Amino acid sequence: MTSFKFNFSGNTDDLHEKDKEEIKWFDSEEVIPSHQVKEIKDLLSHAKMFVCGDVEIGHVSVNNMITYLKYKGIGTVLELAEKKHSDLVTGKYEGGLKIWECTYDLIEYFEDNSKTIMFKNKKVLDLGCGAGILGIYSLLKGGIATFQDYNKEIVQYSTIPNVYLNFEEEELSAEIKKCKFYSGDWASFNKLLDESEKFDIILTSETLYNPSNYNKLISLFKDRLSDNGDIFIASKTYYFGVGGGTRQFETAIKDSSLDNEVIWKTTNGIQREILKIKHS
Ligand SMILES: C[S@@+](CC[C@H](N)C(=O)[O-])C[C@H]1O[C@@H](n2cnc3c(N)ncnc32)[C@H](O)[C@@H]1O
Repeated sequence: MTSFKFNFSGNTDDLHEKDKEEIKWFDSEEVIPSHQVKEIKDLLSHAKMFVCGDVEIGHVSVNNMITYLKYKGIGTVLELAEKKHSDLVTGKYEGGLKIWECTYDLIEYFEDNSKTIMFKNKKVLDLGCGAGILGIYSLLKGGIATFQDYNKEIVQYSTIPNVYLNFEEEELSAEIKKCKFYSGDWASFNKLLDESEKFDIILTSETLYNPSNYNKLISLFKDRLSDNGDIFIASKTYYFGVGGGTRQFETAIKDSSLDNEVIWKTTNGIQREILKIKHS
């Protein structure tokens, strides 16, 4: 589990400088799992476990993945993040290597409300998925998952292997067929999807830290949420050093056709919340 650390020195100037520059966001593309099957075997040999109450989800070890990518000469973006000692390099690396703490909040919330929130046969989008814990959780509960992360390398060498890791050989091909994987920026991802593509449930954790992405998120939510669907956003109320957070996002969606409700919040420590969003 990790909390936000934009760089180890605590100096956020780099980030603000980057924000002032014109950022060329990566185009979205579909990532087809069969291309990585051979490499996945190597990555899975040092798997770790995400544990939250009774929920256990296997995932590749970040250190093992970085070593593997270096050895293969892949992963320049992740090396950049490592070199800059940063969890975020705006527009280049958006934090998908780690499992962030609000992911635990959402899983705990779903476990506590398992009688009312059901995933069986629901079309689920794990937006900004990183390791893909939320999407994998929905698959394990019988859902049909689409995974999206900004960085293609994360999708290839973390999200997809993690799906492989959580199913027995005999279930795997059916499960993988139920999944889709995409990389790239939210605006481009929204354009790439078929006009008719809608999701019953959209899950997203720790994706409200950059207010300059709010309009992309709001458009995507409006376009991709099915009529009676639910969006669950787990986030800090305020991200120090960048300024985004749940309150600012609420202000941004005020004039949209989306309704917002805080359904859970922390009682101590760094303030975190879960928002539920629906069409008005
Ligand atoms: C801090 S990470 C959170 C990862 C994961 N949801 C978790 O909680 O562990 C933020 C995620 O949002 C995604 N993201 C951020 N900005 C994005 C953008 N403009 N377009 C697409 N994805 C973006 C990144 O891919 C990254 O995985």
